[in-house]
Parts: sequence; C-alpha cells; structure tokens
Amino acid sequence: MNYFTLSNGVKIPGVGLGTFKAENGDECYEAVLAALKAGYRHIDTAMGYGNEESVGRAIKDSGIPREEIFITTKLFPGKPGYNSAKTNLEKALKRLGTNYVDLYLMHWPSNNYSVNLHTWKAFEELYEEGKARAIGVSNFKIHHLEHLLPSVKIKPMINQVELHPFLTQKPLQNFLEKNGILLESYGPFAKGMVFENECLAELAKKYNKSIANIVVRYGIQRNVVMIPKSVTIDRIIKNFDVFDFELSSEDVECIDKLNLGRRLYTDPDNAPFVPMEEIEE
Ligand SMILES: NC(=O)c1ccc[n+]([C@@H]2O[C@H](COP(=O)([O-])OP(=O)(O)OC[C@H]3O[C@@H](n4cnc5c(N)ncnc54)[C@H](OP(=O)(O)O)[C@@H]3O)[C@@H](O)[C@H]2O)c1
Repeated sequence: MNYFTLSNGVKIPGVGLGTFKAENGDECYEAVLAALKAGYRHIDTAMGYGNEESVGRAIKDSGIPREEIFITTKLFPGKPGYNSAKTNLEKALKRLGTNYVDLYLMHWPSNNYSVNLHTWKAFEELYEEGKARAIGVSNFKIHHLEHLLPSVKIKPMINQVELHPFLTQKPLQNFLEKNGILLESYGPFAKGMVFENECLAELAKKYNKSIANIVVRYGIQRNVVMIPKSVTIDRIIKNFDVFDFELSSEDVECIDKLNLGRRLYTDPDNAPFVPMEEIEE
C-alpha cells in the first residue's frame, strides 16, 4: 500500500474504494467489508450516495481500528452554505458511526464564487474543531480555485475530479501542485472505455496485470489518489493488486498520450449558479 501526504501532514492511502451507486444495505456493506479484508484502508462515500450507514456498519464490523481507516464524505451537491456544511456533517457522522471523518469534501462548486467561499468558512471551522482531519473540494476547475484561494484561511488539501487516461487533467494538476493541493481521480475506468482500449490491453499483457490495474497504477505513479469502485467481490480484490509492479516512464507517457480531453461526467461549468439569497441558513 502506498500513502500520499496532504499539506497538513495527514497521510491518505493512495488507493481507496469508491462507493458511488453502491446501494445502501447489503450491496454497499458487503463491498466495503470485502475491501477492508482485501487490505483497502480508504473508503470514499458521499451524503448524496445515500450509503454512509452501510459504510459505517461495515467499518465497525470489520474489527479494524477506526484510526487505521481513511473515510471521505462529501457535502450534498445541492446544499451549499455555511450552516448546511455544518449540520449535514453532524448527521453524516451519526450515519457513519464515527466522531470525525478523515476528509470532508465540497462535492460540487457553485458557479457563484461567493457561495463557495461562504461554504468553505464552515469547512475551515470543522477542520479546526477536529470533525474532519482534512478538508477539500471536488469538481473544482482552475477558475473556481483562483477565486477561492486568495480569500481562505486554510487551503483545500485535495481536489477530487474526473480523471482517467482520456482526461488526464495535466494543467489542473500543475496548478494544484503549485498550491500544495493533492489531485484525486474519480471515474478511473472512464465509464468502461478503458476496457476497450488496445494500448491499455497491450500494457496489461506486458505487465501480466488487468487493464484496471494498469489504470490504477498509472494514477498512483502520477501522484494521483485513485478510488476505483466495484461491488463485485472478485474485482474489489483484484483492482487493489497494484503494489507489486511499476510502469516504466515510457509506458506512463504512452498512457498520457491517450488524453482526448474527453469529459464523460458532468462538466463543472454546468454546475448551478446559486444566488446567495437561496442558501438555506
Ligand atoms: N466527486 C464526484 O463528483 C464523483 C463523481 C463520480 C464518482 N466519484 C467517486 O469515484 C468513485 C469511482 O468512480 P465511478 O464509480 O464513477 O467509476 P469507476 O470506478 O471508474 O467505475 C466503476 C464501474 O466499473 C466497474 N468495474 C470495476 N472494476 C472493474 C473491473 N476490474 N473490470 C470491469 N469493470 C469494473 C464497476 O462495476 P461493478 O461495481 O458492478 O463491479 C462499475 O460499474 C465513485 O465510486 C465515487 O466514490 C466521485
């Protein structure tokens, strides 16, 4: 297992389990439990996924000490605001059965920059209160950060965005590195497109690994946190088998060249513009 270090010194496991669309109840519970048994120590959930309760239950039943597991949750995308960020984290902590999360993310930016800053103030306070060991954002483009960073007391420690071989996010990564912010990928399998790609299939053959392994390893070697999702036990186990090989720098460059700048999930520029008056206080 490899760990990355956030700007505040907190260590984050480089590979975690994604849980978007893992249904609350048996599906999510069994997936998280299997992941923890397989060696994962990092689970990515969100209020919007509706499965925090199952994540929390699986963590508890795993018998692994809480402090060995890195839990991320995210504020509901449609509920920005200072009070919302605070009250919703309290509710999430209850569902997760813990008194802190390791990472609390603002799931989506608003295209009203003032709303992002207003919400971020609560994130800073939650961090200072120890309710979140680290705080960050998700789906933020450079322009969202350029407007946020000059006004914050505490910089986000992570930005979680769509990133895969067809959307390599190099300009964003350069910007983040200059600001001490770690990049985290979602959607690593590009909605299945990676499994159809010949170059990735050849690399899988060359390294005697699966295409999923090549994609996850590619991220790790670029200093990107990877959170592949699966609810299929066999895949959960195999997707994690990425710590006993290294892609050559030529092969990493080869994957870089697959970049099409192709977004398969919602473009953050289409996030709503929320007027300040509409924020629930
Ligand atoms: N911040 C955000 O806005 C945001 C947005 C999207 C996702 N995320 C996070 O990022 C995580 C990953 O993204 P994602 O879930 O959208 O996509 P993903 O991890 O790229 O792909 C998940 C899909 O790939 C399948 N899969 C997994 N391993 C496979 C393998 N070895 N071979 C073939 N198929 C495989 C899964 O099927 P089965 O489950 O049926 O095995 C599932 O359908 C999410 O779960 C979530 O935690 C965050």
